[in-house]
Amino acid sequence: MLCLMIGAVFTGVWQAAHRGKAVAAERMPQATSFEKDIAPILRSHCVRCHGLEKQESGFRLDRRDDFLNGGDGGAVVIPHKPDESRLIRLVEGIDSDVVMPPDGNRPSDVQKKRLRQWVNEGADWPERFKELPGKP
Ligand code: HEC
Repeated sequence: MLCLMIGAVFTGVWQAAHRGKAVAAERMPQATSFEKDIAPILRSHCVRCHGLEKQESGFRLDRRDDFLNGGDGGAVVIPHKPDESRLIRLVEGIDSDVVMPPDGNRPSDVQKKRLRQWVNEGADWPERFKELPGKP
């Protein structure tokens, strides 16, 4: 009987510990990597209209300085504030009439989440990347 009780207590502790871990993992996902997670999204979905050849709305995101300067409307990203960042609002279609990209080649839901998370974490574009990393 005592054995059973001890067993039950241990099982309970073990389960609680594991539940705790699962919750913590959900709340604190891995930090986003600009180079591995973000640059490829910008490259495949945005550079075509916001790069060397075209700068729609005065916005260019293939170079760090231009990205930080933003477009005709000023800064497009406010670190830690995705809901106030035009880039996120446009990509998620929050303001309904304009969505980025406007031509249908939309980022996937996972990619959109990554962008939001990146801005949440401070939208770091490391200084060592003067230009958008990755192959054109
Ligand atoms: C097919 C061309 C095209 C693609 C691809 C595209 N955009 Fe745009 N982008 C535009 C146009 C056109 C505007 C101006 C829209 C308007 O003001 O109505 C714009 C405006 C913007 C602005 C506002 C800039 C400012 O200061 O006014 C941001 C931010 C932006 N785009 C981000 C993105 C991002 C991020 C991606 C990739 C996920 C992307 N765009 C892909 C054409 C494009």
